Amino acid sequence: MSRKTIIAGNWKMNKTAGEARELARELSAAVDKLSQKDLPQIVLCPTFTSLPAVTTTLTGNKKLAVGAQNMDYRDNGAFTGEISAPMLLDLGVQYILIGHSERRQFFGETDLTVNQKLKAALKHKLVPIVCVGESLDEREGNLTDKVVAKQVAGALQDIAEQELESLIIAYEPVWAIGTGKSCDSEEANRVCGLIRTTINEYYKTSGKPGDKVPVLYGGSVTPANCEEQLAKPNIDGSLVGGASLKAPDFVAIIEAGAKRVARTPQVV
Ligand code: PGA
Repeated sequence: MSRKTIIAGNWKMNKTAGEARELARELSAAVDKLSQKDLPQIVLCPTFTSLPAVTTTLTGNKKLAVGAQNMDYRDNGAFTGEISAPMLLDLGVQYILIGHSERRQFFGETDLTVNQKLKAALKHKLVPIVCVGESLDEREGNLTDKVVAKQVAGALQDIAEQELESLIIAYEPVWAIGTGKSCDSEEANRVCGLIRTTINEYYKTSGKPGDKVPVLYGGSVTPANCEEQLAKPNIDGSLVGGASLKAPDFVAIIEAGAKRVARTPQVV
């Protein structure tokens, strides 16, 4: 049995609730027409304000789940402007992006906040998609492996091996996000493998928990490059930004995910 295939769309700060509902409807109708047998797990991550519109549109749809792009690690309190895990669960949200590079770059998120949010997600049974990846300077300074391993180990601080069951990691090199320059698929495959090895080394147990963790690639994923990426053994899915905003492009990426599912029996 191999790891689950996941195709996630990060809509970032785009679309009003009405526009988001429309895109969710379009995607749901297009996915209905695909062969249901080999569908990957699909996750749509709209803005907070569009979550009710999208969760309502997709009610009862098992293949299209909804994720949020961020949350606070605390449940409630005097934290103006923040949203908590119980509030997201209440809307029917099932997945949560944690530590996206734009959150790290523009909103001061660190390995510590990523760790706090990951603990909160696991406690509340939201499925976490933890994002890691190096900047251009770090890549050019040959620091990729060190930076990615540090981010992964930082996220996992004080989390027990048994809690990792639902964990998903996304390798998103910062220089590849929104630039049109996706990472070479062989190199992306190597770093996704390194992420898994880092998890195994962190826990140092015979259980090798890293081998069970789906690792997605993200950064300028398009219909043209996703198939090659998804053919690599260490890449279990795609985290898609720009191309997830256009239904035909995202559906093409879902179809590439379906080919991976057809090749590899999935865990449920
Ligand atoms: P991109 O974004 O596909 O537009 O590069 C990916 C992401 O930030 O998750």
